[in-house]
Formats: sequence, C-alpha cells, structure tokens
Amino acid sequence: MKFTIMTLFPDQVKNFLSESIIGRASDKGIIDIECLNIRDFADNEYSKVDDTLYGGGTGMLMECEPVWRCYQKACEKGKPYVIYVSPKGNVLDQKKVIELSKKDHLCIICGHYEGIDSRVLSKTVDEEISIGDYVLTGGEIASVVIVDSVSRMIEGVLPNSDAYTNESHMNGTLEPPQYTKPRVWQGMEVPEVLLNGNQAEIDSYNRTMSLIETMDKRPDMFDKLQISAEDWQKVLAKKKQN
Ligand code: ADE
Repeated sequence: MKFTIMTLFPDQVKNFLSESIIGRASDKGIIDIECLNIRDFADNEYSKVDDTLYGGGTGMLMECEPVWRCYQKACEKGKPYVIYVSPKGNVLDQKKVIELSKKDHLCIICGHYEGIDSRVLSKTVDEEISIGDYVLTGGEIASVVIVDSVSRMIEGVLPNSDAYTNESHMNGTLEPPQYTKPRVWQGMEVPEVLLNGNQAEIDSYNRTMSLIETMDKRPDMFDKLQISAEDWQKVLAKKKQN
C-alpha cells in the first residue's frame, strides 16, 4: 500500500514514520511512504505558499495553486483516495481505519496555519477526517496517526493477525488487563487462571475481563454490546468477587 503525505513539514512526518514497526514495514517494502513538500510546488521565487484571508480574519491561509500542483504530482501514477485532515472531519475510529486499509493508495493533505483555500479542497478531497474534537497546529500529527493505524491492519506489518484481532476496538470491546513477569510485583499477583495452561479457561476469563474493562472504562461502548445470559452471569459473578 502506498501513502503520499502532502505537507509543509515533511521532516516531522518522516521522523515519526521511519522508526519501529512502521519504519520496518517501509524497509521491507510492505508499505511505501512518500512525503511531498507543498512548498516545492510554490509558483514564486520566495516559495511563499500562504496569504491573508478574504473577508478578514486572523492568520494566513494556504493558497490553491501550490496544493493543486502538489496534488497533481501525487496523482502521477494514478488517482489516490484523498483525505484532508481537519478538525471539521468525521472522527477517525477503528471501523474507518479498517476501511482505509483496503485502499491501494492514500494521499493525506495536511493543512497548516488557518488551513487551505476551500476551492482546491473541493477539487481534490474525497474525505475529511479528524483525529478528535480538539484543534492541532497542523495536520501532520493527524496524518501520522492515520498512517500508523492503517498500516498495522495491512498483512505483514504486524507479526501475525492475532496481534490485532483480539485487541481493543476490534470487536466493540476493550482488551482485558494483561500481565508479564514477574509473577508477583509489589505484592500484586498475576491472576491464577492465567498460569494454569488451560486455554479454554483462560479464554473465558479474558472474555469476562474484557467485558468488565469495557463496562468500567467505556460505558458508551458497553451499552452497544449484545451480551449473552451466560456472559452476564460471569460478569456479575466476577464483579461480586472484587
Ligand atoms: N488539524 C488540526 N486539528 C486537527 C484534528 N483534530 N484532526 C485532524 N487534523 C487536524
């Protein structure tokens, strides 16, 4: 899968995406990340890409032409699916991440300053996405959030699909609490059931704990779950114990 990120700050994006799991996936050629500097497409000798707003208002807005030229470069080998990251977009969730992971080529346009002239956005953007209801100084952090979350859904990026099929948000629940060595830390013991090697019991325990975790931490998600009578009984029994 290919990602093209159109930004005024390519180093910010590259620095983040060149390390760890995403960096290794790029090195192996599983994903291809291209950063285009919108400033390289400025049409003046000062590489100026922004100007004041018509109708007044504070700050500067990125101009159409450099963004348009940069977009055309991104389209050289075919039209990508184009995302504009902005606080006005649909808020990203795991369902959207999975949907985006099925595209061949995603192009993410990052705004800066007050944003980008609406005319060029109307000619280029397929979807506007926000990473949450707050405002960042630019779209770069949002773009790496999308590349990271989408990449890890692509085959070969994580060691095996178990790494994500059982994790939080994949089936509407949060994952259960997890433990590693030592078995006792500051007097706190790892639950006995996780040590006994009986996989059916471990799975059942983890399912119950996952439901409890969701109930306690994300009641909004818990309310949407269809829970069997058997699961309810286990949840209530466990709650009583604690
Ligand atoms: N740019 C500025 N704020 C943003 C947000 N919340 N999500 C995506 N892009 C942004």
